[in-house]
Amino acid sequence: MAWYEHIFNEYYIKFDGHGDTKEEGSYIENLLKIQKGDKILDLCCGYGRHSIELAKRGYTVVGYDLSNILLERAKADAVAARVDVRFIQGDMRFLPFNVEFDKVINIFSSFGYFDKDEDNLQVLKSILNSLKDKGKLLLDQINKYSGKADKIIHQQNEEGHIKFTKDAQFDSDTGIYSGRYTYEILDCQEVKEYTFRIRIYNINELRKLLALAGFNAVEFYGDFQCNIFNNDSPRIIAIATK
Ligand SMILES: C[S@@+](CC[C@H](N)C(=O)[O-])C[C@H]1O[C@@H](n2cnc3c(N)ncnc32)[C@H](O)[C@@H]1O
Repeated sequence: MAWYEHIFNEYYIKFDGHGDTKEEGSYIENLLKIQKGDKILDLCCGYGRHSIELAKRGYTVVGYDLSNILLERAKADAVAARVDVRFIQGDMRFLPFNVEFDKVINIFSSFGYFDKDEDNLQVLKSILNSLKDKGKLLLDQINKYSGKADKIIHQQNEEGHIKFTKDAQFDSDTGIYSGRYTYEILDCQEVKEYTFRIRIYNINELRKLLALAGFNAVEFYGDFQCNIFNNDSPRIIAIATK
């Protein structure tokens, strides 16, 4: 089985160090210039934090993800938040949508999961097919190429009876960000390990890939505050138009 079929589980939910989802909801609205009545696909929605936030703002949202564990949590959170979001399980390369969405978001480093460029390109083609004419995609990757980004990562965090360790490294020659999540279950001395391997495309590569997929135009931002991309930006955010 591929790494991305294992790692996004109940432990991931527990230790996910995500940002402020409410704030990110406003940034997504600004970056994509979302209009009243827009239909949005949250691709690789995880446990639905952005899907739910955008639904609270009145948009029609579909959340799509491979992980049943994360989707179950997303469904429960949507019920608790009293919003109506359709959550669908599937692989991002094979989206079952045809010219349906005004906007697609793929956020928090959910791209580049496949070893072959053709598969990552297939994701973009599938997104293009899901978008309406002039629809827009927001694609967000961490900018590991920045001189300010840590190339070797060692993080530890303990919660309840679980100790979490993340060890990772980025190779700027290959663009591969890879590493390992280790969860040590302290009271039963059990250790669970999950590896990951993500291809982070630099902006020239991403521009080419988006054009190859058939997108017409692309703008790059360096953070969620809409600052234009520069080499030291914390993120690589592409806004691509069909
Ligand atoms: C880093 S998480 C981001 C989740 C969410 N966007 C967020 O910001 O909280 C990446 C997500 O991609 C999903 N994923 C991984 N491989 C996938 C695939 N082949 N098709 C669809 N979703 C996938 C995972 O299950 C996980 O929820």
